[in-house]
Amino acid sequence: MSVSPRSVLNNESPATDPNWWRQAAVYQIYPRSFYDANGDGLGDLKGITAKIPYLKDLGLDALWLSPFYPSELADGGYDVADYRNVDPKLGTLEDFYTMTEAIHAAGMKLIVDIVPNHSSDQHAWFQEALASDKGSAARARYIFRDGSGEHGELPPSDWTSIFGGPAWTRVPDGQWYLHLFASEQPDFNWENREIRDDFLRTLRFWSDRGVDGFRIDVAHALSKDLSEPLPPQAELRRLESLHNGSNPLWDRDAVHGIYAEWRALFNEYTPPRTAVAEAWVDPSRRARYASPDGLGQAFNFDLLMADFEADAFASIVTKNLAESAATGASSTWVFSNHDVVRHATRYGLPARTGADGNQDGKAWLLAGGHEAELDRELGLRRARAATLFMLGLPGSAYLYQGEELGLHEVAGIPDADRQDPAFFRNAGVEVGRDGCRVPLPWTPAGESFGFGDAPAHLPQPGWFAGLAVSAQDAAGDSTLNLYRVALAQRRRLQTVEELEWIPNDNPQVLHFARPNGWNVVANFGGTAVKLPAGDVVVSSVPLRDGKLPANATAWLA
Ligand code: GLC
Repeated sequence: MSVSPRSVLNNESPATDPNWWRQAAVYQIYPRSFYDANGDGLGDLKGITAKIPYLKDLGLDALWLSPFYPSELADGGYDVADYRNVDPKLGTLEDFYTMTEAIHAAGMKLIVDIVPNHSSDQHAWFQEALASDKGSAARARYIFRDGSGEHGELPPSDWTSIFGGPAWTRVPDGQWYLHLFASEQPDFNWENREIRDDFLRTLRFWSDRGVDGFRIDVAHALSKDLSEPLPPQAELRRLESLHNGSNPLWDRDAVHGIYAEWRALFNEYTPPRTAVAEAWVDPSRRARYASPDGLGQAFNFDLLMADFEADAFASIVTKNLAESAATGASSTWVFSNHDVVRHATRYGLPARTGADGNQDGKAWLLAGGHEAELDRELGLRRARAATLFMLGLPGSAYLYQGEELGLHEVAGIPDADRQDPAFFRNAGVEVGRDGCRVPLPWTPAGESFGFGDAPAHLPQPGWFAGLAVSAQDAAGDSTLNLYRVALAQRRRLQTVEELEWIPNDNPQVLHFARPNGWNVVANFGGTAVKLPAGDVVVSSVPLRDGKLPANATAWLA
């Protein structure tokens, strides 16, 4: 079965190719935890520039940077105080230009994160809103309401924030403002033309400075229907489950009007600027975000939510390729990012397949107690197999810094060192996302395993030593070298977007072929299996007697 009719063979140079993103291997950098060039314990832009040879050598097509804008770091930078500047803790605009030039000179593209649903409470506009009267134009940029109760002493509704606790915070004159995330992240009022124009200005600002694409944070939240009476939380949940755009806060059809304006702006550039939506919506609602009239691509988190299981992987791939063929976007694949437990760890924990067949809970939580259940070796082995399977698929592959080292989630970070608002607003329930944001180990020894000359801003565990970049460089079987070989082969083989499933009689084995003779075989089962004829170009673990061992993937070409 060939599920994608689209072929994107083209001879354009990568600099002008409008399709560069369709099958790109994109690497997410979490700047504060990547490499610290100035020795203050926080990663920075100069640190990224310094490591471009490493990134180029890894074989990446594009880098996506999580926010580097001025921020109080109430939510790791997703609380932006100034959208058109660089956080002085991370560098300067000058450093940004130097970095961008170096990325381009290395033949890679640059994608930056845009956070449009909310600003930081330190943003000049929010400070102005606080200093202004009820009903003022300054307050109309955000979502202010009078409270309920006799004297307005209760929030306007019982809504809870994504990170826990109430979604409304009261200001000194008695009004309340809405924040779907932390209280330091007030939601913008996207009904206000000034907000729309300001974001167009921001997109133009970065596009003019050489940015090739944008990752749009919580892309499904911008449009809201806040007409009174506000429905209670229980009703929100019910409406959300209908997946028909009727929830007043999330995934409303009106949001696509915003992205149509963005698309017009993107298309003014050559090649057009690209965008990928972070929209945690029902798969049936994803297509409009990925439409060529909208953002053009949307993250598909289906594989990330699935257990390591042949059936689940096969049906997710088939569904998503069919969907992307219908919209004209290309599929996106991702196992790890800065919001979820690293996939080497997820796959080493007992499967948590619920009635809905996903491991949502495990992806978001790693309560301290789970460390005892973790089979580290199995987790990493499956992660390598899953990654090799995913890198063989048509579409773009999004990788998260540190997964190329086979890093596990860092468990047991002391409470006093935690930074994630999800931990503070949900004390005792969620440990939060700090465990996947611990600064990378570059060398087996040194102050912070070569991350910088100062202690890292989140504590690194002792086991980082053996996984450091320089420790893996020379080891032929290291995860780092597996990624390098796979990405190099992928660049050679990834030409057309078609995929064909090849039937086999083992339900634990998935086999697909690409029209150019590239075959991918993944063994999700517990015993070694025979491989089809062909030259093995890479395998996630060494073959045994010519067979593909358990929990492993091989490419033949
Ligand atoms: C997105 C980001 C996450 C952040 C949230 C609020 O989900 O990926 O890190 O906390 O938006 O901006």
